[in-house]
Amino acid sequence: MPIKKLFVAFLITTVLSLPSTVKAQNNTPIIVQVNKPIAEVQPTMWGVFFEDINLGADGGIYAELIKNRSFEFYQPLMGWKVTQNTFNEGSVLIVNREEKNTNNPRFIRITKEAAADTLGITNEGFRGMGIKKGLRYDFSVMYHQPTAGLTLHIELVSMAGKVIGTTTLKPAATVDAAWGKAIASFNATDSSLKGKLNIWFEGAGKIDLDIISLFPEDTWKKRPGGMRADMIQLLADMKPGFIRFPGGCIVEGHELSTRYQWKKTIGPIEERQLSINRWNSEFTHRPTPDYFQTFGLGFFEYFQLAEDIGASPLPILNCGMACQFNTAEVIPIDQLDTYVQDALDLIEFANGDATTQWGKVRVQMGHPAPFNLKMMGVGNENWGPQYLERLKIFSKAIKARYPDFKIVNSSGTDPNGERFDFLNTELRKMNADIIDEHYYRRPEWFLANAARYDNYPRNASKIFAGEYAAQSDHTVSIDNKNNAETAIAEAAFMTGLERNAAVVNMASYAPLFAHIDGWQWTPDLIWVNNLQSYGTPNYYVQKLYSTNKGTNVVPALMDGQSVSGQDSIYVSAVIDKNTNDVIIKVVNASANAINKVITINGAKKITPAATVTVLKSNSVLDVNSFATPEAVIPVASAVQIKGSKLAASLPAHSFSVYRIGMK
Ligand code: AHR
Repeated sequence: MPIKKLFVAFLITTVLSLPSTVKAQNNTPIIVQVNKPIAEVQPTMWGVFFEDINLGADGGIYAELIKNRSFEFYQPLMGWKVTQNTFNEGSVLIVNREEKNTNNPRFIRITKEAAADTLGITNEGFRGMGIKKGLRYDFSVMYHQPTAGLTLHIELVSMAGKVIGTTTLKPAATVDAAWGKAIASFNATDSSLKGKLNIWFEGAGKIDLDIISLFPEDTWKKRPGGMRADMIQLLADMKPGFIRFPGGCIVEGHELSTRYQWKKTIGPIEERQLSINRWNSEFTHRPTPDYFQTFGLGFFEYFQLAEDIGASPLPILNCGMACQFNTAEVIPIDQLDTYVQDALDLIEFANGDATTQWGKVRVQMGHPAPFNLKMMGVGNENWGPQYLERLKIFSKAIKARYPDFKIVNSSGTDPNGERFDFLNTELRKMNADIIDEHYYRRPEWFLANAARYDNYPRNASKIFAGEYAAQSDHTVSIDNKNNAETAIAEAAFMTGLERNAAVVNMASYAPLFAHIDGWQWTPDLIWVNNLQSYGTPNYYVQKLYSTNKGTNVVPALMDGQSVSGQDSIYVSAVIDKNTNDVIIKVVNASANAINKVITINGAKKITPAATVTVLKSNSVLDVNSFATPEAVIPVASAVQIKGSKLAASLPAHSFSVYRIGMK
């Protein structure tokens, strides 16, 4: 046979012998049926989970720049340095008035005998202080001094040792045992990523100081003593449906005495009792001995934050059990009342009017309107019969008083295994409202489990995917990266959450924030230093989902099957009844670009000019960073629909969101 004929014969044979499934799938269109909604997407569907981990609160969103402002850390001068040219025994004392003030026992006493001496204290901030040129800084201090004598000379100092802001304060004498508050504002003349604050004592005299505080003017909504605006803006931009707070493991505590107690986090900040942060010593490979919770950011502020960003609040309360990875202490059943009462009181604090005991407290804190609390988590990652025993008591008490209130129930730490199976079975027998599932797994797990909820029962307990993140290495590895591969795997998995919105009502990535110089856990959605913050590729995946939430899920099928990994493609689709758009989310998890036809059926009209927003990268290892915060971000472009057909070009390792008008 001539060579040419032989080659043609070879080609025919080869094509005919290709596996028919591969050929058929590549050419089979995806059909999106927009007039047959299969489930409502709950307004809560995509939310955020905030925990004070990785310097998330103190040193993070709480904009206080002074670390250990009331000398209550276990080492009372941690974060502070004393400078004096003449050593005078007792010139700097830590005084403990524990019998008179159990919440805030310590303060610092400065005694300066000679005006000619030099005496000052320096605060190092949380890994330094981020200072911005031209910005106003508000210094305040509580003080006590029977006779006015000392002048406080305040200085902001840059990393290079240059004074970049200064002011003076001459506190008046206080009467008897009363404490006064002195304030002074000044502008920074330069920026510094890791500044510090000096307080020099001028003249001679004696003064007691407590709650030494420094806030930038540019807090979120310009609230004095408020939150870091750039970090909160990143949350607000996501338009989250809910915010879960304050944890996480910090709810449980290493032991019960260090559990999170919301009542200790409200009211005047000087009365909020400090607690060690359980992440202080959790990981020997990432010790953070200066990690404490001052609770300047407490439950009132969390509720206010939820309201600000339009998210439903989801507080998690301790269920009478300390972290089972640590002491695993449990409170005896006959002493659980206090814990249950805390839960009932929290609902009253959030929703009650001024005639109720706890509603009145909220009103007095400046928020007359209710916070509209509708749900609460009882326990974090608790497990075992000891959890169920306590949970049932909480549920009974809460439902007795608030029958429509929803309870989020723990299914433990893992999405499978004996502990999970036990709780999942028992919680379903109890007809639990919402079951919280957590998964910290490798990207392959996320791809393989995108159909996890396809067969979950529809008319039973709802699911909260409360903590998840693809781990590029393994859970709690310090080598985990927020790279493009993990983001794409999560996007693929989330098509399964969205497709199953009939059963999955809420989902949130974890953890949310990490400070580059103070983290304990990686990966994290948003990384910050003292001045900047950036979203990871994973952040943009979350944001693409939450800002393209839609109102109803519609079928998106290939060969009559949901698209969940065939040819490495994952698809979900929603319509938005408010805008009359269909939104199609498509992940190509393969290393090859794929062209796919998507047919939109059932629309009365389709606007030919549509948009597609694509998240992709050159390498799956690509990450965002402070140097290149936008290395992997979504890019929007126009796309034309021909009749009812969309020719989708899906780049390798990409997540595409098509928004198509139907007006
Ligand atoms: O997100 C970090 C931790 O992971 C949470 O505190 C805990 O709930 C989980 O184990």
